[in-house]
Amino acid sequence: PLAKSLFGLEDLEERIRLSYGLKKVIVVPGDCEVSPFTKRELGRAGARALLGVMRADDTVAVTGGSTLSELAEQMTTPLSVSYRDALIVPARGGLGESVEFQANTIASTVAKRIGAHYRLLHVPDLLSEEAFLSLAHEPNISEIVQIIRRSRIIVHGIGDALEMTRRRRLDEETITKIKNAGAVAESFGHYFNEQGEVVHSMLTMGLRLEDIVRTEIVIGIAGGKRKAKAIHAVLRFGQEDILVIDEAAAAEIVKQI
Ligand code: F6P
Repeated sequence: PLAKSLFGLEDLEERIRLSYGLKKVIVVPGDCEVSPFTKRELGRAGARALLGVMRADDTVAVTGGSTLSELAEQMTTPLSVSYRDALIVPARGGLGESVEFQANTIASTVAKRIGAHYRLLHVPDLLSEEAFLSLAHEPNISEIVQIIRRSRIIVHGIGDALEMTRRRRLDEETITKIKNAGAVAESFGHYFNEQGEVVHSMLTMGLRLEDIVRTEIVIGIAGGKRKAKAIHAVLRFGQEDILVIDEAAAAEIVKQI
């Protein structure tokens, strides 16, 4: 707390909280784009924020990404609560990138660290319409998808739109379409413009937009100056309750307020 007031982080938190109507904002010192230490702190603060609201029998959906992977690593077994009856699930199917950044991996790591159960969703992140329709009829898959959609809490990362199109190796035509639609942010498989409107969605199994709207507690976690625009766009979308960011992103965001 002393360090926070010294750095003026509390002031940043309060300004962002009021401006976007959030329940809670946590700003960690530094810039996670340049410092792995800050990224770890971001993960730790995210882990703490999650444990702060999580009930013993909750279902929690987590997305993928390097920031969420750091959160998973920083989860510690709470001493006072048993999460034996809690369930951690991936928010969506796997992503075509490294295993440690996939939502499935993150869900299982979080669960193991806090002694909760987990269920996985073994489908690709991006599906053709044909595959989507046939997978939706698979009893095993539809059962886990129903569970995912009932999550009370979702913890998600936020990315720059174009960076995510490349990371997901989308085809040039789709990239151009997303770019021309003015997308600046990507989160939960949806691309948002600066006003927070969804301009493109991936066909994917798992959480849909309406599920996110219905989710009781939405926790966003992201950092780095370059992500400020993306974070702003997702905040404009208006579903966030708790935001965990770093100082570099926060300083940039308040410039736009
Ligand atoms: O792909 C999962 C995801 O959470 C995206 O929705 C988000 O844009 C991205 O990861 C964030 O990744 P990182 O934390 O590595 O920047």
